[in-house]
Amino acid sequence: MKKLPKRYTVTAALPYTNGPIHIGHLAGVYIPADIYCRFLRCKKRDVIFICGSDEHGVAISIKAKKENKSPQEIVDHYDKLIRNSFKNFGISFDNYSRTSLPIHHKTAKDFFDLLKSKNKFFEKESNQLFDVEESQFLADRFVTGTCPICNEKDAYGDQCESCGTSLSPEELINPKSTLSGSKPVKRKTKHWYIPLNEYEDFIKKWVLKDHKNDWKPNVYGQVKSWIDHGLKPRAVTRDLDWGIPLDTKDKNKKVLYVWFEAPIGYISSTKEWAENKNVDWEPYWKSKETKLVHFIGKDNIVFHCIIFPIMLHSSSEYILPENVPANEFLNLEGSKISTSKNWAIWLHEYLEEFPNKQDELRYALASNTPENKDNDFTWREYQSRNNNELVSIFGNFFNRILVLTHKYYSGKIPFAKNLKKEDNTLLNELKLYPSKLEAAIEKYSFREFSALLMNLARLGNKYLAKQEPWKLIKDNPERVKEIIFTAVQISAGLAILSEPLLPFTSVKMKKILNLNSDWDKISINSIIIESGHEINQPELLFEKIEDEKIIQQLKKLKK
Ligand code: MF3
Ligand code: ZN
Repeated sequence: MKKLPKRYTVTAALPYTNGPIHIGHLAGVYIPADIYCRFLRCKKRDVIFICGSDEHGVAISIKAKKENKSPQEIVDHYDKLIRNSFKNFGISFDNYSRTSLPIHHKTAKDFFDLLKSKNKFFEKESNQLFDVEESQFLADRFVTGTCPICNEKDAYGDQCESCGTSLSPEELINPKSTLSGSKPVKRKTKHWYIPLNEYEDFIKKWVLKDHKNDWKPNVYGQVKSWIDHGLKPRAVTRDLDWGIPLDTKDKNKKVLYVWFEAPIGYISSTKEWAENKNVDWEPYWKSKETKLVHFIGKDNIVFHCIIFPIMLHSSSEYILPENVPANEFLNLEGSKISTSKNWAIWLHEYLEEFPNKQDELRYALASNTPENKDNDFTWREYQSRNNNELVSIFGNFFNRILVLTHKYYSGKIPFAKNLKKEDNTLLNELKLYPSKLEAAIEKYSFREFSALLMNLARLGNKYLAKQEPWKLIKDNPERVKEIIFTAVQISAGLAILSEPLLPFTSVKMKKILNLNSDWDKISINSIIIESGHEINQPELLFEKIEDEKIIQQLKKLKK
């Protein structure tokens, strides 16, 4: 048998605080990570779920400039909004930090100093693009121009989003400053670089050999393609005034490159958590018995599978991620989600339109996780997941069995003298579900996880439909006791096993059932609720969403 990790450090990509969170973020990163962590907690594993706001970077400075605010004002605003969205959707972080906090500045700076003291960087002077009007160097997204590879007009200084090539500003044809719109000149400047090329062998062995079989093919493929193109040294500092200063006394305003310091945010956030809990943070990042997993979207693969691991590796202190289950993108009604075109479903707006329907969205998104390819979210599918699955199958089964228990036995689970073959078959099926769900989790298949859960409800529904206790109650009341007793076990199984995916509903179900049993017991004995146990009055778990509501949403989008 495979040895279980002693503890888990699970991270979810730190969102940029230059805008709110939309369903694409939730579907690709935060719901999968949350299901994963909640599952581990159900299994009573030692796990920390770590995240925080990514508050430096060019997008934030640009937004601040546009809105005539300070970067700090921008990040304060969105940090609050994002934090709230996560909380409302039940994303169960153990800690949510911010990269603008002193604890992060210090952790990131210490990390830089550690690698510098180990001679892991080199310093180099080069000509870089400079905006004379703004008297500022133009790194990354401060400059756009034509992509030298595919001729796309609006490629960024760090990447062409059209062909995916990573670029440096100097490679752009006809560069233009995003700040002033002017044509930049070239100026000399000195920066620190990490020689990624020197780690090619390390990355090749670690990814292409060690993780050939356990990383998702989309992740593995992207890393391989980066390696095949050859790794180049990468600057880890920038000439900017918003970021983590290298040296607070230096008026040249050099800061750490945001993609150097942001992943260190996972470590700072862990430290913050440990301080609050009064425990030691180091085992979560330095012990070989810890399993480190990064949940990210596909645009973050190179940073989490090549650059950050090289940083961790070259420190000689930190562990490496065991898996980086990146997902692809979620589109919306056939088009790419876009903040600038306002083509998105923002979480805070969804909740205004569908109050208390967090689990409905969690379910619809998890069932459609873009695991191996980009997927499409449509309001029609959302409606059908809700009406035809959550309402008609899951909720309907749960409600029916509870209503019957109250009607026939005043809410007291009957005594079943003799279970029949079909009862035992169903109970044996239930027993298998914890390990089926676990297998889905181990594969990082959250679509499978939700399909399995719905399938269990389907089994319960089919069983009731076939046994028809309502027809037997007059002539064969003893048989009805067996049927209700059996079906109640499925409802209890659903209450427990739905926790990772439908946390709000699971709490409701457990309350109604007066239940406080745990995950692992189901695989030992699927009799979860004993005869004589009393349950509370049922309440509907889900409700139908009418066409009108969906049409409204479609209209709102197209506006
Ligand atoms: N803010 C980045 C994004 O939204 C993700 C940063 S992940 C971290 O794409 F590792 F750098 F923290
Ligand atoms: Zn291109």
